[in-house]
Amino acid sequence: MLDERNPFLMNICQRPPVVMTRGAGSYLWDHNGRRYLDFVQGWAVNALGHAPEELVRAVTAQSALLLTPSPAFHNAPQLELAQRLVAASGLATAHFACTGAEANEAAVKLARKWARLNRPGAFEVVTTWNAFHGRTFAMMAASGKPAWDALFPPLPAGFRRVPYGDAEAVAAAVDAQTAAIMVEPVQGEGGVVVPAADYLQRLRRVADAAGVLLILDEVQTGMGRTGALFAHQHHGVLPDILTLGKGLGAGVPISAVLASRQASVFAPGDQGGTYNGNPLATAVALEVLRVIERPEFLRNVSERGQELEGILRALGARFGAREVRGRGLLYAMEFAEDVAEGVRDAALELGLLLNAPRPNTLRLMPSLRVTSEELAELRALLSRALERVLRQRAPRGAA
Ligand SMILES: Cc1ncc(COP(=O)(O)O)c(C=O)c1O
Repeated sequence: MLDERNPFLMNICQRPPVVMTRGAGSYLWDHNGRRYLDFVQGWAVNALGHAPEELVRAVTAQSALLLTPSPAFHNAPQLELAQRLVAASGLATAHFACTGAEANEAAVKLARKWARLNRPGAFEVVTTWNAFHGRTFAMMAASGKPAWDALFPPLPAGFRRVPYGDAEAVAAAVDAQTAAIMVEPVQGEGGVVVPAADYLQRLRRVADAAGVLLILDEVQTGMGRTGALFAHQHHGVLPDILTLGKGLGAGVPISAVLASRQASVFAPGDQGGTYNGNPLATAVALEVLRVIERPEFLRNVSERGQELEGILRALGARFGAREVRGRGLLYAMEFAEDVAEGVRDAALELGLLLNAPRPNTLRLMPSLRVTSEELAELRALLSRALERVLRQRAPRGAA
């Protein structure tokens, strides 16, 4: 029997005592051959589900051709991916990295350099409490998780946090030292916090009025997750800098920072990284983009998203959830009590994978190709998991 801890792995998280060995579409299998319906999908990474045949083909073909020539040479998939992402986003240039945190670091470097050239004395980035921008030192400082401030002090300076969803708080925090405002269109790790519909438009106006940059972190919300290629496209707002990750490689590590012409200020020597723009990852991302840009693909996200919302609202009403919220295929169910981890564990026993980003909040982020049949299976399994946990709790309250 596997232990939750392995003596050879650093102890950074508690994992269930199984080894995941294989995936296909919305399903994962463990070393015992047990099948799970996967509504975690690598933390909103596997936009096309597990082992999609397009990506198997892309990885196989590209790895037989060229894995990496060095980032100091051009390669064909990188050139085409940059061109297609620029066209899709309305921005001007792209730079590729491997993780969301790295893309966000690059975005902040761009903003600081832009400020050095255009807004002398400015360097600070206004971010939001409860945000998640990654785990490098600077991104820990950018993310508004109070517990992180004490983990590995000191964190880099240069970030000012304000409450999420409050455009006036952002406006009040912007001053002569501000280079940029950086937010997620929906806070993902924070528990799928959806701001008011005009939040991004208001932030755009604040940025324009103050003459600072607007950075949108779409590492989680980008690449179709909310039913549009990029979540900000629901609001008709164009950022100056956009970061992507997770779904961009749909399981293969790649991230991107895209910038407007005026924010494209990197010069040789400013930024780098051994694997940036490597042909294996960029060939995969190109294939992902081709699939996601098909109109029927995003239609499925919106339609299945509505079904998912309906299921969660019905279950939420039955089991006394405090709130169901989300967009596209990124949803959360919040309870008044801290039951989420219990429900997640009960679901695992039943063969359903869920995530609990907060003690009272479940998060669901299925493959963007999830089907109505799989959603019906989710409904049945989640209902049983909720029943197990909430019924166990009921006698205590009812006694
Ligand atoms: C919005 C957002 N930004 C950045 C990150 C960090 O990405 P990575 O873990 O690839 O560094 C995440 C990861 O969950 C995220 O959700």
